[in-house]
Amino acid sequence: MKAIGYQPGIDGKPGGFIEFEQQTPVPEGHDLLVKIQAISVNPVDYKVRQGTKEPQNPGRILGWDAAGIVEAVGEKVSLFKPGDRVFYAGDITRSGSNASHQLVDERIVGHMPETLDFAAAAALPLTSITAWESLFDRLKINPEADGDKQALIIGGAGGVGSIAIQLAKQVANLHVIATASREESRQWCLSLGADDVINHYKNMAEQFDQRGLSAPDYILCFNNTDAHFESMTELIAPQGMICSIVGTTQDHDLSKLKSKSAGFVWELMFTRPMYKTADMIEQHELLNAIARLVDSGTIRTTLKEIFGPLNAENIMAAHRQLETGSTIGKIVLTV
Ligand SMILES: NC(=O)c1ccc[n+]([C@@H]2O[C@H](COP(=O)([O-])OP(=O)(O)OC[C@H]3O[C@@H](n4cnc5c(N)ncnc54)[C@H](OP(=O)(O)O)[C@@H]3O)[C@@H](O)[C@H]2O)c1
Repeated sequence: MKAIGYQPGIDGKPGGFIEFEQQTPVPEGHDLLVKIQAISVNPVDYKVRQGTKEPQNPGRILGWDAAGIVEAVGEKVSLFKPGDRVFYAGDITRSGSNASHQLVDERIVGHMPETLDFAAAAALPLTSITAWESLFDRLKINPEADGDKQALIIGGAGGVGSIAIQLAKQVANLHVIATASREESRQWCLSLGADDVINHYKNMAEQFDQRGLSAPDYILCFNNTDAHFESMTELIAPQGMICSIVGTTQDHDLSKLKSKSAGFVWELMFTRPMYKTADMIEQHELLNAIARLVDSGTIRTTLKEIFGPLNAENIMAAHRQLETGSTIGKIVLTV
C-alpha cells in the first residue's frame, strides 16, 4: 500500500510529508481494511504534526477522516462486507487515513450516504461525530422536550460548527445563534440554518442585548475556550450547559457557574475508540443516522474545497490553510 507520513525536521533540516510503500495489513477481529477514496483534514492533523518531534520510521501517518470501499474484513465483522462504501474518522491511537488503505474498527464506521460521492462524504465523519456527541450525548438535548431552547455555537463556520448548526437546527429543533467574524463566514452560517449570527471578536453579551436575544440554554464552544470562558459564564442561562471541544492552557474558575446551577462538559470524539468504551458502536449508529439525514435532504455536506489529489504537497497545503484559523467548512483531498 501507499502511505504519506510526516517526518519532523532533524539537525536543522526542515520536516515534511514523505510518500512511501509499506505492507498492506490484513484485517483481524472487528477490523475492516478500507481502500481510501477521499480524506478530509482537521486541526487535529496539524496539532499532531506540530507535536511530533522524534524521528519516525519511515513517517507518521496522520489523518483521521475518510471515505472509501471495504476491501476485506476481520473474522468478527458483522456490520459490513467487502464492496460496502463507508465513511469514518478512525482512532487517534492508530495509523491514520493519509494512505491508500487503512484498518478501522467496524464499530466506529458508518455506511456512506448514498447520495454523496466520496469527496462530499469524506468531509463529514470527524466533525459529525463531534457535533452529534456534543449535542446529544454530552448536553443530552432531547428534540421533543428541548425544541424551544436556544443554543449559541461559537465558531459556527468552521468544520465542526458547519455540521453542528445543521444538527442543532434541523434535528434538535433549537433556536441557533452562531458566531462568525467575517461577512463570508457569516453568510455561510446563515446558509446552514443559523437564525442569527454574532461576532466572536466583539462583546457577545452586548450583542445578545442589542438584538434582544434571551440567554442561551446551551453554549457549544468550538474555538478557543480560554478566550471565551469568561463570556460563556456570563452569557449562559440559569440551569444551562456549556460544552467545549477545545482544550485550555489556562486555569478557569468553574465556581462562576455555581449561582446559575450551570454546567460545563467536555467532548472528545476520540474517547470512545481510545478507551474502547462499551458503547463505542454508538459512533457506527450516529454515522448511519448522519447518512440518512443527508440522503433525506435534511442536512448537507460541509465540503467547501477540494485541494487536489492526496499527496505530500497537497496535505501540507491543507494543513497550512487550516492553521490560518479562518477555514470555512471542510477541505478534502481525493484519490
Ligand atoms: N474535542 C474534539 O473532539 C474535537 C473535534 C474536532 C475539532 N476539535 C477542535 O475544535 C476546534 C475547531 O475545529 P474545526 O474543525 O471547526 O476548525 P476550523 O474549521 O479550522 O475552524 C475555523 C473557524 O474558526 C473560526 N474562528 C477563528 N478564531 C475564532 C475564535 N477566536 N472564536 C471563535 N471562532 C473562531 C473562524 O471563523 P471566522 O473566520 O468567522 O473568524 C473559522 O471559520 C479545533 O481546535 C479542533 O482541534 C475538537
